[in-house]
Amino acid sequence: MVVEDATLTDALTRIVGHDNVLTSAADAAPYVVDWRGRYRGSARAIVRPATTGEVAAIVAHCNEARVPIVPQGGNTGMCGGATPHPSGREIVLSLSRMRSIRAVDRQNATVTVEAGATLAAVQDAAAAAGLLFPLSLASEGSCTIGGNLSTNAGGTAVLRYGNARDLVLGVEVVLADGRIWDGLRGLRKDNTGYDLKHLFVGSEGTLGIVTAAVLKLFAAARTRLTALAAVSDVARAVVLLQMMKQALGDRLVGFELMSDEALALSRKHHPDLPNPMPNHAWYVLIQATDTAFNAPLATNIEETFAAALDNATLADATIAQSEEQAERLWALRENISEAQRREGPNIKHDISLPVSSIPAFLADCAAALARALPGARLVTFGHLGDGNLHYNVAAPVGTSGQAFMENAPLANRIVHDRVAAAGGSISAEHGIGQLKREELKRYKSDIEIDLMRRLKSALDPLGLLNPGKVL
Ligand code: FAD
Ligand code: MLT
Ligand code: ZN
Repeated sequence: MVVEDATLTDALTRIVGHDNVLTSAADAAPYVVDWRGRYRGSARAIVRPATTGEVAAIVAHCNEARVPIVPQGGNTGMCGGATPHPSGREIVLSLSRMRSIRAVDRQNATVTVEAGATLAAVQDAAAAAGLLFPLSLASEGSCTIGGNLSTNAGGTAVLRYGNARDLVLGVEVVLADGRIWDGLRGLRKDNTGYDLKHLFVGSEGTLGIVTAAVLKLFAAARTRLTALAAVSDVARAVVLLQMMKQALGDRLVGFELMSDEALALSRKHHPDLPNPMPNHAWYVLIQATDTAFNAPLATNIEETFAAALDNATLADATIAQSEEQAERLWALRENISEAQRREGPNIKHDISLPVSSIPAFLADCAAALARALPGARLVTFGHLGDGNLHYNVAAPVGTSGQAFMENAPLANRIVHDRVAAAGGSISAEHGIGQLKREELKRYKSDIEIDLMRRLKSALDPLGLLNPGKVL
């Protein structure tokens, strides 16, 4: 739904043109609901600038007119951060037209891109220059660099390359009063005072609007290997992780854990997907790469698998023999979220813990959930190499997913209290948005919340940037 306001619409139209101020309910519909369909909002208008100057003019006008702004990239976020409030007071500022790859500097190994460029487009631009941009998410065809930085996205290659924060060297940001901060520096060393770019990374549109960024590029992978391993429990997966790290060093790029339930769900909604090693409780998808041609990755991994079979760490394993087989194994993993969306609502947790404490945490949490919510299904998967699990709790078979969502506060308490007790985080990579605002207050110390509030009021004194999100 859109709440029209002729004066505001006229002012915005003067900045971006009539075609880029969407006010009809049909045009606005895709921008006011989140990917999971959990949040539905309404807006005065959806505004789609094409340049940083236009973003600055919109923000300056909204600052004068006291109109709150919800920045939006690809709208693939998991926490409702890009969805406007139902009150209809806000505008949605979509960066989707700002897609240009401004420059690739091969010798400096950097790319300068606009915030609305999709992650896949940036990966392609790097590949065209013979280099690699390693951030990798199942949503990469739709999510944008602005969204990736604003959520400090993680994904499946963090183990080797780090998350979005580790991959950014500079940013261009429109501040709450409409000024443009040009921090587009491609420097790997710069100790000139506070590192301001990191304030905007992970701030979910609450401190400024990212309009462009300088990102790090890496040497391209010339040898790639994907393998699927089956283990009887997560403690064994953790041992296998240690063995793989020892064997491969930083050639180990991804180590993704999936429960049998998670894979069954992926296959239920995508029946063409393979089932190469049925009847094991847990699986690990392993990705390794080397920058040399014909590197001995397969030998290293086969030797590690042989040792892991000998000491009963591993139950079974298979190595993809072609790029096509590798893609099909990855499809099993990458379709889990989409399968969950089709299956209906579920209580999502995006947690991180020290890897060493994950097996005991999972056993304890599963027992507590079984006592409190008998029959609830656990759909557990995620980035075990980073200590990050997507620990999702779904309704018992044959019961209503919608009704089950009433149990979210109880399930959150069971899971998040145990995460906090183990020194973990209640949001490893998806952010806070609207979904975890109350949880944040509960688990962050008073001093951290106080510092966050002070930063927010210093950078956005009128509270117009993505209100009601994070804090
Ligand atoms: P949006 O959803 O549009 O916005 C996200 C937040 O950033 C909002 O708060 C918004 O206000 C703010 N924002 C967006 N653009 C800007 C900007 N230019 N300036 C300031 N603020 C801005 N996430 C992971 O971390 N790891 C994963 O492995 C992963 N896998 C996913 C798989 C699927 C199938 C899906 C649907 C999502 C997945 N995600 C994952 C979540 C999501 O894709 C990421 O959070 C992504 O970084 C969001 O990018 P976006 O452009 O879609 O941002
Ligand atoms: C993933 O790793 O696939 C995601 O972060 C998405 C999800 O948790 O659903
Ligand atoms: Zn993830």
